Amino acid sequence: MIELAPSILSADFARLAEQVEAAIQGGGTVVHFDVMDGHFVPNITIGPPVLKSLRKAVKAPIDCHLMIENPDAYIPAFADAGANWISVHQEACLHLDRTLHLIRDHGCRAGVVINPATPVETLSEVLDIVDYVLVMSVNPGFGAQPFIPATLHKVRKLVALRNQGGTNFRIEIDGGMALDTIGEAIRAGVEIVVAGNAVFGKGDPAENARELLKAANS
Ligand code: DX5
Ligand code: ZN
Repeated sequence: MIELAPSILSADFARLAEQVEAAIQGGGTVVHFDVMDGHFVPNITIGPPVLKSLRKAVKAPIDCHLMIENPDAYIPAFADAGANWISVHQEACLHLDRTLHLIRDHGCRAGVVINPATPVETLSEVLDIVDYVLVMSVNPGFGAQPFIPATLHKVRKLVALRNQGGTNFRIEIDGGMALDTIGEAIRAGVEIVVAGNAVFGKGDPAENARELLKAANS
């Protein structure tokens, strides 16, 4: 089943709970929560206090995408604030195996993220200990950037690796997903689609989510 993960990065933060609720009404099943530190990526967003409030307001699982340096120092705080899934960037983790175990030890699903320039091969030793792999289809840091189609071959490669057996991760994509790009991502093998601008950029988030899911399944 295809899952839609609305990214709150493009939401109106003054009406966050209401907007997220609408996106869920429209078929979103996971809330994508983008954390940026101004170091790993050239932007700053939100942290555990906002997560804690959102956790109280919505029932859906919350997927924390940590675009930060030294994630080990903050994983406990995000888990305590109510994260259900936590993903870290391969590029930010010197001790990736340790970091992924830390996420699981805190009771969360563990994900690993790769930037557009990072090959799938860098994950070969951790694919058996991750619950999901997030393929960035834009360079992280900002919403509403154009989709980079060349990243889809990594999705196909992940599907092929999983077919070899011994691993059981899910495949998520993040960046530039819209009505005209979601179909090719699904055909490549994506199972969880993050969408920010396409859900919250304009109009009704519920209707936007519905349209995206329709395009994904057509
Ligand atoms: C980008 C973030 C994304 C972002 C996607 O660095 O990780 O989750 O919100 O936004 P759209 O869907 O607008 O490309
Ligand atoms: Zn993200």
